[in-house]
Amino acid sequence: MTNPKRYLITSALPYANGPKHIGHLAGAYLPADIYVRYLRAQKKDVVYVCGSDEHGAAITIQAMKENTTPRAIVDKYHAMLKSNMADLGISFDIYHRTSEPIHHETAQEFFTALNNAGELEQKETEQYYDEEAKTFLADRYIVGTCPVCSNENAYGDQCEKCGTSLSPEQLINPRSTLSGNAPIRKSTTHWYLPLNKHEDFLREWILKEHKDDWKTNVLGQCKGWIEAGLQPRAVTRDLDWGVALPPALAGGQGKVLYVWFDAPIGYISATKQWAIDNDKDWKPYWQDKDTKLVHFIGKDNIVFHCIIFPVMLKLHGNILPDNVPSNEFMNLEGDKMSTSRGWSIEMEDYINDFVKKENGGGQMVDALRYYLTNIAPETKDSEFTWKGFQEAVNSDMVGKFGNFVNRTFVLMHKLCNGKVPAFHNELKDAEDDAMIAAIANAKKAVEDAIEGYRFRDALFEVIMLSDAANKYMQKKEPWIVAKQTGEDGKPTADAQKLIDNCLHICLQTTANLAILINPFLPFAAKKMCYMMKVVEKMLDWENAGKMNLLSVGYSLRAPELLFRKIEDAEVEEQIQKLKVKSEALKQPEVAKETEKKESSQNPSSGGGEAKAEIQFDDFAKIDLKVGTIVSAEKVEKADKLLKLQVDLGFETRTIVSGIALHFEPAAIVGKQVTVVTNLAPRKMRGIESNGMILMAEDADGKLKFVNPDDAVQNGSGVS
Ligand code: MF3
Ligand code: ZN
Repeated sequence: MTNPKRYLITSALPYANGPKHIGHLAGAYLPADIYVRYLRAQKKDVVYVCGSDEHGAAITIQAMKENTTPRAIVDKYHAMLKSNMADLGISFDIYHRTSEPIHHETAQEFFTALNNAGELEQKETEQYYDEEAKTFLADRYIVGTCPVCSNENAYGDQCEKCGTSLSPEQLINPRSTLSGNAPIRKSTTHWYLPLNKHEDFLREWILKEHKDDWKTNVLGQCKGWIEAGLQPRAVTRDLDWGVALPPALAGGQGKVLYVWFDAPIGYISATKQWAIDNDKDWKPYWQDKDTKLVHFIGKDNIVFHCIIFPVMLKLHGNILPDNVPSNEFMNLEGDKMSTSRGWSIEMEDYINDFVKKENGGGQMVDALRYYLTNIAPETKDSEFTWKGFQEAVNSDMVGKFGNFVNRTFVLMHKLCNGKVPAFHNELKDAEDDAMIAAIANAKKAVEDAIEGYRFRDALFEVIMLSDAANKYMQKKEPWIVAKQTGEDGKPTADAQKLIDNCLHICLQTTANLAILINPFLPFAAKKMCYMMKVVEKMLDWENAGKMNLLSVGYSLRAPELLFRKIEDAEVEEQIQKLKVKSEALKQPEVAKETEKKESSQNPSSGGGEAKAEIQFDDFAKIDLKVGTIVSAEKVEKADKLLKLQVDLGFETRTIVSGIALHFEPAAIVGKQVTVVTNLAPRKMRGIESNGMILMAEDADGKLKFVNPDDAVQNGSGVS
């Protein structure tokens, strides 16, 4: 679309069912944020919306796992996702949520409009029903044997072992995850969106109109779906969590909109809320043909954003997306990224490990943004490795970009009194011209790449410009020129002019680099403005290419470090962490068993029931010692377990104890405890536990440590 009047940019609404990893960030959020920051720098009318997807089985299943309510789940993870995104510089104009009333109303209205217009069909079908739980079973609630690979735990919508997408009817020996029973077939009525009626429209719109401007991976998937024959899709579900069907609708009781029907409407309700908050009109953004709508998503969302939602939008009289620049997947250290298998880097973890550390902050956000853009899976799956991260940051960000900016400032302070030197036109040479031309070229190349959704290429252009600038400076070597001194020991007038020219160009280049890098690394751009003592308005895109951004004679601040190097130790620690996390999740069954055993070894009946009599010899077999807890931390994905280090005088032992629900880790460090030291070691969540801590439990279930009434030396025996 040429010259749109306004832009509406969306990123896929993440499910509020858990932390999200950096693969999600690279797929749908970071590229959209770069695009939006670029448009804002061009002073375009742009609104960037997102929010949490809070409905569907993804949420109710997580609630079951965490033994809590869907409401508690969405509240917890919505807050987490919202703050993670903000910490990583994702600059939404609104981060909304689909549990808000305005969303429920908007989605109901949408459904009613389509239904009243006769665009939906009602059909009665038989579906799986759990007689004990008295409920129809969503696809994810049914497991059974995969007809393709015989995996006995395939889900009703997909086998996670072989990746085949399934329907519940295809499972062999289906069983309900709620009761474990075999479900029965029971008839139920649902509303369907007859996609088959819109095949001609989709062919024309996607495969003809957009055949040249949509990405080939996106077009390929769409073609696949269309060629396979489009079927009516159910848009309602028998579930009690979601957007209820309009109350007046006959037969709609107890049913909700299918999550994939309501979630994309979340883009519209988010826009409405944004308009309310900002005293704007939301309608043109969804109704005016001059609006450019762009959906940023990952490849598993293509069919919903390119086929189903567009049909809904067309039927409802809304505009259609101009583009859906979907990314492929990002793998991690040789394997698929997966939160449930522990093979992932959660945004939350990156923030805690790097951003919220003393030598972290914005520069570490930029470091991640740099590497993720550098390896963006734009045309094929890509791979994140910690070594690659280190290499990219150290050699490009620090070695090229940061180095150039730093050298420019240092030399300007040393050779030009800390002021922007004049440019002596009569001495301008071919190298100066080439540098000036390189800036103009880079600007154009970055624009073309960003507008074509090739963010990786765009960033490459900026780094190449800093590389060219380094080479320019190297060639001009002002530090050598400065050695041509007169009698006063200062550079001669002619030498000073050459120095001035070089640093003038380097400084103007620095200002240009700030503008060009701003959409990608906003924290660095901001810091550069501070160093140059210019307002952030300088970062307006129209200023790129200008060679007079910094006025002659203006004094600038001392250089600050833009980026720091990533150390070997940091990288190794992360690789190790990944291994431990995934190992711990590898044997969930074993871990659960031991967890159960462990907690059954803690006293469970307050008051202490009497046990059978034993001989002294039996008692004497138990080696009891007093020790001090020197550290305590929670065990990931095991909410009852704490990993303790206990100083037993002669050694410090790792003990995993099922007391996490009773004590804050920090509060028990320094406490003396009694330890059974000769229990056979046992692995819990991949951690070897070497001992057991004695606890007393009172009648209302409170746990207390059993310890001497006065401090004793660690390692003292108990008898
Ligand atoms: N929650 C979905 C996912 O994580 C994405 C929803 S995108 C929307 O795959 F368009 F439906 F909002
Ligand atoms: Zn399978």
